[in-house]
Amino acid sequence: MSGMIRNEDVAYVRENVRIDDVVNDYLPLKQAGGDQKKGLCPFHDEKSPSFHVTLSRGYFHCFGCGKGGDVIKFLMDIEHIAFVEAVEKLAARIGYQLNYEGGKSSDYKPGLKSRLIAANEAAQKFYAEHLNSPAAQIGRDFLLKRGFDRAACESFGVGYAPDEWDALTKYLRAQGFTGEELEVAGLSKEGQKGMIDRFRNRLIWPIRNITGEVVGFGARKLSEEDQGPKYLNTSETPIYKKSQVLYGLDRSKKEIAAKRQVVVVEGYTDVMAAHLAGVTTAVATCGTAFGDDHIKVLRNLLMDDDAFRGEVIFTFDGDAAGQKAALRAYEDDQKFVTQTFVAVEASGMDPCELRQAHGDAALRDLIASRIPLFEFAIRTELKKHDLQNAEGRVNALAATAPMVARIKNKALRPEYVKQLALWLGMDIDPVLSAVTQIAGKSAVVKNDPVIGNWRPDPKEPTLILEREVLKAKLQVPTLVLGWSELPANSFSHPAYQAMRGAIEAGAKLENIENEELKSLFTELSVEPIRSDGEISDRYVESIVARLHEVAISRTIADAKSKLQRVNPNDAEYEGLFTELVALESQRRALREKALGSI
Ligand code: GTP
Ligand code: MN
Repeated sequence: MSGMIRNEDVAYVRENVRIDDVVNDYLPLKQAGGDQKKGLCPFHDEKSPSFHVTLSRGYFHCFGCGKGGDVIKFLMDIEHIAFVEAVEKLAARIGYQLNYEGGKSSDYKPGLKSRLIAANEAAQKFYAEHLNSPAAQIGRDFLLKRGFDRAACESFGVGYAPDEWDALTKYLRAQGFTGEELEVAGLSKEGQKGMIDRFRNRLIWPIRNITGEVVGFGARKLSEEDQGPKYLNTSETPIYKKSQVLYGLDRSKKEIAAKRQVVVVEGYTDVMAAHLAGVTTAVATCGTAFGDDHIKVLRNLLMDDDAFRGEVIFTFDGDAAGQKAALRAYEDDQKFVTQTFVAVEASGMDPCELRQAHGDAALRDLIASRIPLFEFAIRTELKKHDLQNAEGRVNALAATAPMVARIKNKALRPEYVKQLALWLGMDIDPVLSAVTQIAGKSAVVKNDPVIGNWRPDPKEPTLILEREVLKAKLQVPTLVLGWSELPANSFSHPAYQAMRGAIEAGAKLENIENEELKSLFTELSVEPIRSDGEISDRYVESIVARLHEVAISRTIADAKSKLQRVNPNDAEYEGLFTELVALESQRRALREKALGSI
């Protein structure tokens, strides 16, 4: 059959492309002992790395979601491309010429995505060359005025789309791209007399995916006569999804992972300015707000072991900064909010303008002067009120108390109560009662059962026993005796309670719907059981017994306090007393079981 890659060539590619190199294009890997490396799985949500790569065998496998295979499979799955396309990409990587059975026949078609990337790469070359043309003077002036010399523009691949109807379309057609391909790629569109270029007389910024391939463009208008918007971006295509793409990520991904910091700026020129000024972790969204999908793209770079350790720093320019910060703080789920900061220039300049006005150091200082997102949002609101007089302070409290009450991380709230009192120049008491009142109300209204937005701290001492028992139940279920006797109050953390419920309902990873719970499931399934010795049935029995004992102790404490409130002459008293005695003896038995096996 024609169009089939020879088996020997597939084998050659499989053996000669290093799987860790390919994986590293998408996520950072670190040593995991032997010839293994590990990282956060790109195929499912997880918080501790269970995605392993075995170098000698060239395999990947995720212990969390179970996905696995060779380097070809990895590329197919992560890029959503077909086998042939994946092999071709890998061969190109090592400069290997593939042979096709019966030759590459005329009906042979490489995958659509490869074609679209090839068209975009060719267009990028075209635009970049045109930046040197006489007609592009206006574009070069614009760039120079914003502090970008020729070297900077070349480094970012900036280009110019000529003011002609179909210059690019003709150029790409001559290279063998079809009208349909150019239209799907968003480079050309149907005009009245055939295909015409989509971008004309604009400065062009190529937008690359995380591996550095050109997938689309941002185009700024240069002429007042241009009726279109200031910036035009490539519309959605099979390779360009604006909710996920981050301009600059290909060149900043390594720095983001190494520094555990990402700076989110608002424009292409801001990314260039930041990188040139030494803020090499800067990225920008492309004509859309920073959203959950962008977080997903970044989390693999920012997570370490079991926690999100990165800092996300937003720069917002202009008057709307406070509003944007408030949106970020309260509209998103607040998972990463404690590590989210804002760096706003006092007079409203964006990073590019700041660099022009005051130089590279000023831009670096701006980023260094970041403040926590909540603080920024609250202080922006406070600025609207006159805190010099009592009425102003009361109004300001009314406006900001809900902002503190809506912080989901309960540990943070008291801190902000103290801060807010300071900022307002009030005592803590009125601030605390305002916040508590609102928080109390919203807690009643909001009935969010399962886990909420937080996960139990794996190292929380009071919860370790609960965690260990769940791990044992997931990892060595046959050893866990006494599980079914555990009383209802055995698990005190809502997440662990939910996990117990899921286990008892017979849930498997693939049919748990809640993402948090799913992640906790793989986490508890993969995290080694804490034990100095072997994981014997006696060891497991002892931790279950200890957990049971703790639960009974809680019940006993409750029963005792109830007993104190009951009159010894009441009929109820005797019943309670008998119950208490029974509980005490049950506790003794459990304690022996727990101790006996250690
Ligand atoms: P200059 O004003 O050209 O120096 O660039 P800038 O990046 O400072 O522009 P601005 O701050 O106005 O916009 C920041 C980013 O928002 C741009 O890089 C675009 O991604 C996006 N943007 C701005 N205007 C438009 C528009 O009219 N349409 C779309 N789709 N995006 C825009
Ligand atoms: Mn701007």
